[in-house]
Amino acid sequence: MNMTPNARAFDDWIRERFVAINTELEELYFSQPDRHVVPEAGAALRRELLDSGHQHVSRLLAEGNTDEGFEAAFDLLGNLGMFMAACRRHGLTDPARETRSPLQDASALALHLGASLGVTPRFATSHLTTHNPARDGVYKRFTRLEAERIFFDYNTRGILAYKRAADALVRTLPMGISHPAVPYLLDDAAAALDDVRRGNEALFAALDIERFFYCVRPYLKPYRVGLHVYRGANAGDFAGINEIDLLLGLCRADHAEYSQLLVDKFLYMLPEDQQRLRDCMRRRSLLDALMEAAPESADQPWFQTVTERFLAVCALHGETAGQHHDQLVRRFIELPARALPEEEQGDVTASGPPLSVLLPGLERLRDLRQAAPRDDIPSRHAEIARLRALLAPRAQAG
Ligand code: HEM
Repeated sequence: MNMTPNARAFDDWIRERFVAINTELEELYFSQPDRHVVPEAGAALRRELLDSGHQHVSRLLAEGNTDEGFEAAFDLLGNLGMFMAACRRHGLTDPARETRSPLQDASALALHLGASLGVTPRFATSHLTTHNPARDGVYKRFTRLEAERIFFDYNTRGILAYKRAADALVRTLPMGISHPAVPYLLDDAAAALDDVRRGNEALFAALDIERFFYCVRPYLKPYRVGLHVYRGANAGDFAGINEIDLLLGLCRADHAEYSQLLVDKFLYMLPEDQQRLRDCMRRRSLLDALMEAAPESADQPWFQTVTERFLAVCALHGETAGQHHDQLVRRFIELPARALPEEEQGDVTASGPPLSVLLPGLERLRDLRQAAPRDDIPSRHAEIARLRALLAPRAQAG
C-alpha cells in the first residue's frame, strides 16, 4: 500500500505505542472495584494518547490530500477512527457532554476522507476485520488483550463465511431456479453457513465475558466527528448478511423496519458492498421463485432437489441468527449489562439506543431469519411451511 511518511509514522504509532497505552489503561481500569468507571489514575497515559495522536493528525491534515489511492485513504481513515474511538473510550471526549468533537483536526481529516471515499467518517468494522492489514501476523487492534484478539479473529471469520454464502446465492441469479448447478451453489452456501455456526460456537466458548464487556466493547461506542454523532461499528456492517436475507427471501426490502436498517448502514460499508446490496434489493428471492414455480413444477425432480437444499440453507441461516441473539448477545452484552448501575445501562450498545430498545429489534431480525410464526412482522413462516409440505416423503425424511 502507498503511504506517505506521515501516514506511515501514524500507522507505526497506532500499531505500537497506541496499543501499549490502551493495554496499560485497560489493566488499570480492570483492577479497580468499579470496572466501568474511568478513574483519576492513568491521567498521564491518557494525556500522552491525546497529545501524540494529535501531533500525528495535525501533520497529516497539513499535508493535505496526497491521493495515494482508495486503499491508503481508507486505511488512514481507520487509524484516525481508532484514535478517536480510544479518546471516547477513555472519556477524553463524550458526545453527551459536547455539541461538537473537541478533536477538531481529526474531525476535519476524517470528514474529508469519509466524504471523498463515500463512507462514514469514522472507523467501520471492515477496518478492524476484513480490511485490516497485518504486519508479521499481527493486525491492528486497540489493545493486546487476548479477549480482543479472540473477538476480532472470530468476527473476521464469521464475516468471511457469510460473504462466501452470499457469493454462492448471488451466482444463482443469472441461472434461474431450475438450473442444474443451483443445488451445487446451495450446498456451497450451506457449507459456508455451517462455518459461521461453528465459529459462533467456538467464540461463545473462548471469549472471556468480563474482559470483553469491560475492556473491548467500550471501543465500539458511538463518537462525534465534527458536529454529528456516528454510531459504533458492529460485525454486521457488510453486505453479505443482508444479501443472504434478501436472496433467500426471509427478509424483504419493502418492509420498512428492515429497509431502514439497510438505509442506515449503507455508509458503514465499503463502496463495493454498497453496490452489491443495492443490486440485491432489486432482485427476486429464491423463495418467491420457488413459490411461483410450485403449482406447475412441484413434482419435478429439479423442484424437489432445489427445495430440499433451499430449506437446508434457510434452516442454517436461522440457526446462526439464533446463536447470535440467544447466545452471543445474551452472554456477552445483555447479562453483564445487568450488573451495571441503572444510569450506565443505556450506554452499552454500539448503535447508541438502550438495550431495552435494541434487543427487541435484534429479536425481530432473528425471528425473520428463522421464519418464526409471528404475524406482527412479515415472517415467511407460511411459505416455508408450504414448501416443506410440497417435499416428497423421502426428501422430507432426509
Ligand atoms: C461476542 C460476540 C458478539 C456480540 C456480543 C455481538 C453483539 C452484537 C450487538 C449488540 C449487535 C447490535 C449492534 C448495536 O446496534 O449495538 C450486533 C449486530 C450484529 N452482529 Fe454481532 N455480536 C457478536 C459477534 C458477531 C459475529 C461473530 C458475527 C458474525 C459475522 C456478528 C454479526 C452481527 C450482525 C450481522 C449484526 C447486525 C444486525 C443483524 O443483521 O443481525 N456478530 N452484534
